[in-house]
Amino acid sequence: MTESCYFSDPVKTDLKMDWSITCILWYFIPFYLLVHFVCFVFADADFTLLSSCLIGHKPETKLKGLVVWVTGASSGIGEELAYQLAKCGSRLILSARREEELKRVKRHCLENSNLKDEDILVLPLDLLERTSHEEKTNTVIQYFGHIDVLINNGGRSQRSLFLETSVEVYEALMELNFLGTVSMTKQVLPHMTQRGRGSIVTVSSAVGLIGAPLSTGYSASKHALQGFFNSLRAELTDFPKILISTVCPGPVQSLIVHNAFTEDLNKPMAIVGSQGYKMPTSRCVRLMLVGMANGVKEMWIAQQPFLLIYYLWQYAPTFAWVITDLIGRKRVQNFKSGVDADSAYFTKPKTS
Ligand SMILES: NC(=O)c1ccc[n+]([C@@H]2O[C@H](COP(=O)([O-])OP(=O)(O)OC[C@H]3O[C@@H](n4cnc5c(N)ncnc54)[C@H](OP(=O)(O)O)[C@@H]3O)[C@@H](O)[C@H]2O)c1
Repeated sequence: MTESCYFSDPVKTDLKMDWSITCILWYFIPFYLLVHFVCFVFADADFTLLSSCLIGHKPETKLKGLVVWVTGASSGIGEELAYQLAKCGSRLILSARREEELKRVKRHCLENSNLKDEDILVLPLDLLERTSHEEKTNTVIQYFGHIDVLINNGGRSQRSLFLETSVEVYEALMELNFLGTVSMTKQVLPHMTQRGRGSIVTVSSAVGLIGAPLSTGYSASKHALQGFFNSLRAELTDFPKILISTVCPGPVQSLIVHNAFTEDLNKPMAIVGSQGYKMPTSRCVRLMLVGMANGVKEMWIAQQPFLLIYYLWQYAPTFAWVITDLIGRKRVQNFKSGVDADSAYFTKPKTS
């Protein structure tokens, strides 16, 4: 036998290896991209948050026993937060202005969880009455001894055109959504820095990142929150166990449109269309709790096609502006012709 029968040609072997790696990459990369594309089409949150859902900590283990203060707990996202946190075994402080609604939420929490009456404190609070926030915080500390999580959720939206809206509405939006939240954080954070741990979770919005017509003041107040909390996070690097997290939901079922500011301070919303097409509140809140359990610093929560706009706005703003201009024109047209602005994305403008 010749030597070549025992030893193959090393140059040929290397070529074969290179060829097979090229083949694998040739098939693998498109397959990988296809999987990601399909995942993205069905995604209802950013990839970090969705990965936490798959492989991260479960809220049931991470949030159990924590003392969680929820503002805006009398309806919508805050109400659902109370229900899901109660099921996780968190002890709760429920705040908003309407005490009777808070008591109703508390009753529902007790009926559907293992919590006892003393595990839930109903604490009526007006975010606009900033002078009361210190006393409210002291009440919570006296009752539970500490606060693990503050969820700044209370707030109101806006449906009106800038040219028709009084400056008082802008003032009110900033007072409530921005300064009310800053004031609560100002009172609660020192207790967390003293203990060296805690979470401040703030419900911002898609329009805290993206611009939206009919919501100039609301969007500004949420952009202000984004800037505030991104800067605060960077100030707290000496406290690695303090989480500063912002949640940016797209359209979610709640009373937000019903309660929105209009062009005048005390003018109620005239038309509130069906909210059925929006993300169910329970799904939004589940994703929020997963994000909290896994220390996610910014959460994008929205169904498609809204989620796509977050990504475009972040990574390809020029495309995003074209799309938001198109959608925006339709939204304004519909608003002017009397169709609910939110459902306007999916309806034809009225012609008469
Ligand atoms: N739903 C959405 O599509 C959506 C999308 C993005 C972000 N968000 C944000 O999610 C948060 C919750 O809104 P939601 O959708 O659940 O709307 P919602 O059903 O109208 O709930 C708003 C909550 O805020 C409370 N609130 C309003 N004014 C207050 C004040 N002066 N002091 C204390 N509490 C006050 C309300 O309680 P009282 O009236 O009893 O005070 C209510 O509990 C808001 O920050 C909103 O900007 C919502």
